[in-house]
Amino acid sequence: MRPLTFTLLATLLLLTFPARAGNDWMPPVRDATVQKECGTCHMAFQPGFLPARSWTRMMGSLSDHFGEDASLPDDKTEIIRNYLTANAGDVVNWGRAARYMQWVAPGGTPQRITENPDFLRKHRFPESVWKNPKVVTKSNCVACHSGAERGLYE
Ligand code: HEC
Ligand code: HEC
Repeated sequence: MRPLTFTLLATLLLLTFPARAGNDWMPPVRDATVQKECGTCHMAFQPGFLPARSWTRMMGSLSDHFGEDASLPDDKTEIIRNYLTANAGDVVNWGRAARYMQWVAPGGTPQRITENPDFLRKHRFPESVWKNPKVVTKSNCVACHSGAERGLYE
């Protein structure tokens, strides 16, 4: 293939599959219990943003979840913990998940996606943006990423 044709083809492929082509895709939540129980107060965040041990810690402290009581019956807690840890960032360890994991200290159990340096690096906006009534908080991913629930962060 001539180099020019190849470049055109590569560009076309990138334009057609921008989301899956690289680092702006995060495997979405496919478990109905997680979607339901962890998607009422905020969107159900993709497990790939935190390592498994972070999810274990979070699922063990739902009665004090960022100042809210998000407790669930044991059977549901178990289903959700299993799903989140099986699909955690250090398990996926690819694309954006791998980038986030780079910044997690060995043994560290961060609880916030929005404090990861990879997040901070991509979201250096003036305070007025975060105070916008349509945004309100950094964790409101869907305010700016319409495909966030499908794992699309463009
Ligand atoms: C009763 C409401 C409620 C429920 C239910 C709930 N959360 Fe949250 N969650 C919150 C609040 C409030 C925050 C803090 C939001 C903020 O500071 O912007 C939060 C923050 C988070 C964050 C950190 C977001 C960030 O800033 O990076 C994660 C991760 C998270 N929740 C996961 C879960 C999981 C997993 C479940 C299901 C087991 C769940 N949440 C269920 C209220 C809830
Ligand atoms: C106020 C709007 C806003 C909010 C809220 C927001 N983002 Fe973003 N995000 C952006 C913009 C704009 C970019 C592109 C920045 C760039 O390319 O430098 C971005 C980039 C990203 C990227 C990198 C995509 C790429 O192409 O490399 C990821 C991943 C991401 N956001 C995840 C999240 C997650 C997860 C949340 C919620 C916890 C969130 N964002 C909340 C505006 C926002």
